[in-house]
Amino acid sequence: MKLSLSAIFHITLFGITTFALASSISEPTNSLNQTFSLVALHPYKQNVPMNPLTIGQYGYVYADSGVGAGSFTLKNSKLFFNDEHASLGKNGALLFKPSGSAISGFQAKQVSPVGYEIRLNNTFPVACPIADISNVYQIYYDQGNASHNCMGVVIHANIF
Ligand SMILES: *[C@@H]1O[C@H](CO)[C@@H](O)[C@H](O)[C@H]1NC(C)=O
Ligand SMILES: *[C@@H]1O[C@H](CO)[C@@H](O)[C@H](O)[C@H]1NC(C)=O
Ligand SMILES: *[C@@H]1O[C@H](CO)[C@@H](O)[C@H](O)[C@H]1NC(C)=O
Repeated sequence: MKLSLSAIFHITLFGITTFALASSISEPTNSLNQTFSLVALHPYKQNVPMNPLTIGQYGYVYADSGVGAGSFTLKNSKLFFNDEHASLGKNGALLFKPSGSAISGFQAKQVSPVGYEIRLNNTFPVACPIADISNVYQIYYDQGNASHNCMGVVIHANIF
């Protein structure tokens, strides 16, 4: 098949446009200047509802169907909820509490004008269902607690 000159021109233009767009929004950053909310997205099932992340009684992090918490920030590759830094508890459970050592390696990769993907050293966590409560999941940066039905999720930050 012979491509016309105009077809080549269009392919080239499209390539340049795509490249320019990708390079202007995809550079990961270690700090964000704003607070944001976080949601867990199922990476494969487009129809699974977004679950906003909330902080539970002991600082553990849950994805549920509620309103979610809006006071996360990213500074120097550390993730904060209000003034409490992210750490990892048993089985890699994500935890926000005043004491304990902060983990680093969080980065935000812009995927839309108001949205970022949040990765920890280039990984995403798993969400494990809570036995007795439907539609509530706990977030772990590991295999989870070996319970049934943990699933990989993408964590997405929404800037206000
Ligand atoms: C970051 O935040 C500071 C203080 O809130 C503000 O002055 C500055 O313009 C912001 N920078 C960017 C790039 O948003
Ligand atoms: C992420 O990688 C950095 C650099 O290798 C390391 O210092 C840090 O401990 C890692 N974070 C986690 C949570 O493994
Ligand atoms: C795993 O964690 C979930 C959520 O915290 C809990 O409901 C469940 O009982 C745990 N399962 C095991 C095997 O520890």
